[in-house]
Amino acid sequence: MEVVIVADADAAAAVAGQVLVDALQSLAAPVIGLATGSSPLGVYRHVIGSGVSLAHASAVLLDEYVGLPADHPEEYRAFIRREFTDHTDLPTDRLYGPNVWVAGPDLPAACAAYDALLTKLGGVDVQLLGIGSDGHIAFNEPGSSLASRTRVKTLTGATRADNARFFDSPDEVPRHVVTQGLGTILEARHLLLIATGAGKAAPIAAAVEGPVSAFCPASVLQLHPHATVVVDEAAAADLRLADYYRETFTHKPRWQSL
Ligand code: F6R
Repeated sequence: MEVVIVADADAAAAVAGQVLVDALQSLAAPVIGLATGSSPLGVYRHVIGSGVSLAHASAVLLDEYVGLPADHPEEYRAFIRREFTDHTDLPTDRLYGPNVWVAGPDLPAACAAYDALLTKLGGVDVQLLGIGSDGHIAFNEPGSSLASRTRVKTLTGATRADNARFFDSPDEVPRHVVTQGLGTILEARHLLLIATGAGKAAPIAAAVEGPVSAFCPASVLQLHPHATVVVDEAAAADLRLADYYRETFTHKPRWQSL
């Protein structure tokens, strides 16, 4: 795992955004994995601002709420279109997400179909991730199997409270979601997690330097051969090896990319 510590949120967005730009420029048919929430917004602005083409790319969502009214602005597909892909030349039919609009008992089959779709696309080249205050990635809440596949999960009270800022009232935040599993996420070729602000210091320390544990789902990144964690100084505040991470990044061989 490589930990990159930069001064602030803008610098973090630029570093992570450039990883996506490089993948989009160098791969013939890149598949990029997209996260929602506040953390990736600067990354998306960086990619949009770079002017890089997504005409040859596919984009896949990490997760989606279950049970929102049709066309709700906080559907993750709507969020990603509004904040990112509608400002690029990604063909609209190459934005994929789990199908949560089927009858409840049919959801497990739709989840399995989403995993199969990711495989059919050839896997995800770069998966962008945020981290929840309870250590979740995608919507794999504490206790999620480290081998889990795409499935229905119940959000914790902490996550529903965190996400209430996007809704008119806390009660509107759905209880259920479909999320890529931790095992699914681990199949992406490059995991790129971005976290900024003091509120992420504790979960980042647990994920990067704590034990690999279902209690901190983001700690599963320690099992991945190519995981990059980009944090600002505030989110790095609890890292014990912060000076080492800074030194490593400062003296990174010029031929070695992130
Ligand atoms: C959403 C997702 C979540 C968020 C996490 C952090 O697609 O995958 O794991 O990344 O809840 O959210 P923010 O960035 O809003 O703090």
